[in-house]
Amino acid sequence: MVWELFNLLKTAEEEISSVQNEKDLENWRIKYLGRKSPLSLFFKELKNFSPSEKKELGEKANEIRKKLVDLYEKKKNEFQAENNLNFSLAKKDKKANFFDITQPGKRIPLSHLHPLTLVFNELTNLFGNLGFQIVEGLDIETEYYNFDALRIPEDHPAREMWDTFWLAPKDKKQKSKLLLRTHTSPMQIRFMEKHQPPFRIIVPGRCFRYEATDFSHEIQFHQIEGLVVDENVSLANFKSIVNNILMTFFRKNIEIRFRNSYFPFVSPGIEVDIKFKEAKSSVYKNKWLEIMGAGMVHPELFQNVGYEKNQWQGFAFGLGVERLTMLKYNIPDIRLFFSSDIRFLKQF
Ligand code: DAH
Repeated sequence: MVWELFNLLKTAEEEISSVQNEKDLENWRIKYLGRKSPLSLFFKELKNFSPSEKKELGEKANEIRKKLVDLYEKKKNEFQAENNLNFSLAKKDKKANFFDITQPGKRIPLSHLHPLTLVFNELTNLFGNLGFQIVEGLDIETEYYNFDALRIPEDHPAREMWDTFWLAPKDKKQKSKLLLRTHTSPMQIRFMEKHQPPFRIIVPGRCFRYEATDFSHEIQFHQIEGLVVDENVSLANFKSIVNNILMTFFRKNIEIRFRNSYFPFVSPGIEVDIKFKEAKSSVYKNKWLEIMGAGMVHPELFQNVGYEKNQWQGFAFGLGVERLTMLKYNIPDIRLFFSSDIRFLKQF
């Protein structure tokens, strides 16, 4: 009988080694350790033996039982360990898929404002704060507004200052020749024709000149024209406004100089220069740099637009926007503005 039990132990051992899951293990347990297992039945039969046999057989059977229990426990522990591992792997997996809604989002690269736009925005704000109204003109002008009305007649040597892109006439009936405006000054006339003083306006706009390009010349560029007309307007007012705007724009890092000059539509004519106190680049160091033309509006312009004689005074100015932007941001070449080079644009 006992050797039958030993056989049983052997098959039980073999079987448990191929048990793959907990369910099979449970079946194994029922088969070898359950109430109806051969071992249990054997224990029940023990009472039929004599006391000495009972003792001997009982001890053997207990040994086998213990071995079977050990086998079972060992396998069970194996499964348990595996389960723990799977559980922590699942946890890890969960962690990998975890979505933290409090995390800041991925930055979507934003586009940048063009440096000229930045400067336009800043300057129009500064002028706006001083009560200037913003007016816009057209890129295409007539010869009259661009030149004649500004006292620049055809044979006037000053016209050579503005090399012009002329537009082919549409037909022979066209009265005034058309051109791409060479400066924003024509809007002075257009505005005055329609408005009575007092007023203060600025005209931001694009201009064109037919000339060779280099680091400081482009065939297209931008100006901000200014015009202030009132009963008592003087150059002192002009100087104070220019000081105010430029000091704010360049964060006080400049000296300003006003110098005599000539433009046909103003009298006297003035040019404004700046010098950097702390030069960002050696190119600008200790150099006076011209940044705008200006002057008191010539009385003939008032006549041209039909204003009453001797009633009004005014000053006008024209700022080079590229020049100011180059100085502010230390840009070495005007051609960069229109190059569409993303490496350049990204810096602003
Ligand atoms: N229109 C001039 C130019 O393009 C600049 C200028 C000079 C504008 C004097 C003005 C002024 O309003 O008064 O060179």
